[in-house]
Amino acid sequence: MPGSGLILGIETSCDETAAAVVERGARTLSSVVASQIATHARYGGVVPELASREHLRAIVPVVRAALAEAGIGLSDLDAVAVTAGPGLAGALLVGITYAKALAFAHNLPLIAVNHLEGHIHAVLLNERESETRSSAPAIQGTSHSPSDSLDAQCSALALVVSGGHTHLYLARPAHGTWSYTLMGRTVDDAAGEAFDKVAKLLGLGYPGGPWIDALAKYGNPHAVPFSFAQIKPKVHLGGKPPRTKSARTAPIARLDPHFLFSFSGIKTAVLRYVELHGLRAEAKARVPRVLANFNPPQTREEALALCSQPTLDLIASFQHAVVGDLMKKTFAAAESLGAMRIFVTGGVAANRELRARFTAETEHRGLRIAFPTLALSTDNAAMIAAAAWPRLRARDFAPPELTADPSLTLS
Ligand code: KG4
Ligand code: ZN
Repeated sequence: MPGSGLILGIETSCDETAAAVVERGARTLSSVVASQIATHARYGGVVPELASREHLRAIVPVVRAALAEAGIGLSDLDAVAVTAGPGLAGALLVGITYAKALAFAHNLPLIAVNHLEGHIHAVLLNERESETRSSAPAIQGTSHSPSDSLDAQCSALALVVSGGHTHLYLARPAHGTWSYTLMGRTVDDAAGEAFDKVAKLLGLGYPGGPWIDALAKYGNPHAVPFSFAQIKPKVHLGGKPPRTKSARTAPIARLDPHFLFSFSGIKTAVLRYVELHGLRAEAKARVPRVLANFNPPQTREEALALCSQPTLDLIASFQHAVVGDLMKKTFAAAESLGAMRIFVTGGVAANRELRARFTAETEHRGLRIAFPTLALSTDNAAMIAAAAWPRLRARDFAPPELTADPSLTLS
């Protein structure tokens, strides 16, 4: 069993360079995130080459800041953990190469973490931190970790919903580690990708989720009746491999079609609505104002000044439909599995309507729900360090030849 259980986590899978120090998967000593939003915003999405370049620039100062904030040196660490995939190959490689060098130079074990597992552990980290706070006197000064007891808790159905993923996993504690069974997933775009694409076609900023979240409350969510067709078993693939980057990361054919998502259709439906209702010119006019200010509008006045009422109604209806579809399939899976606990995690889990409606529905059904804090919902390295803790205890270390796996699956 490792001594202090201090793990340095490194995350570079997409457009955030992040480093964090977490103790025993249960206490965040530091969490530093350098966002590349300003770099990618003018392109309306992540440009992989620019992401790698920005990671190269940021990785050393971000790791130094995480250690300084935690008040420790490299010699205090028990392990270095790094995201091995899924994600952008070049971006992942920056983190992996740096983590390998640190581990080798300081004779520390290297732990490879799946990014999706990291998002699930963001919820567990928050739970362990609350547990630590509520039982602090009993735990202080002993080698007992709150994660030891919490890991023994019941399994959970986890919806990982972000810009790259919309996956449903049954997460089960097993002998101090966790096992994951894929229950459902998107067959094309991820939900966050739909938020980003719809925001882009409406002339809003990148990433689109926070813009849509901020504006949706000013519109009528029932103004535009979007619908999602039931995905038919296997037929959607016709024997061909899935098309999009998010669809490549797991097999689909054996999954229950009731737990499959598809978000490419609603993007096209929004586009058609914009054209039919003459909202195109308004969207184009927004672009220069949005680019001048990379941050989502913070005030009612700013938000309303940018959009007409029909656009606000469209935004509200889009968000309402996406959240409704995520809920429908998640609760169908929970019911079929008899799951009593639901986790919703990943960037889209920051969405206010999503949190409110999932919470109301779980209460109505007598289930329990947990979301990460807003800071841990989007990409960060604390979740990577937390997910590495069970692996450190199991001495499950990465081989020296570890490399990036852009399509890494979790099962
Ligand atoms: O988890 P994350 O930081 O990166 C990936 O692993 O993809 O998620 C980023 C995604 C983006 O698509 C962004 O638009 C979306 O999360 N997002 C939101 C919100 N905040 C971020 N979507 C809806 N509502 C939000 N408040
Ligand atoms: Zn993510």
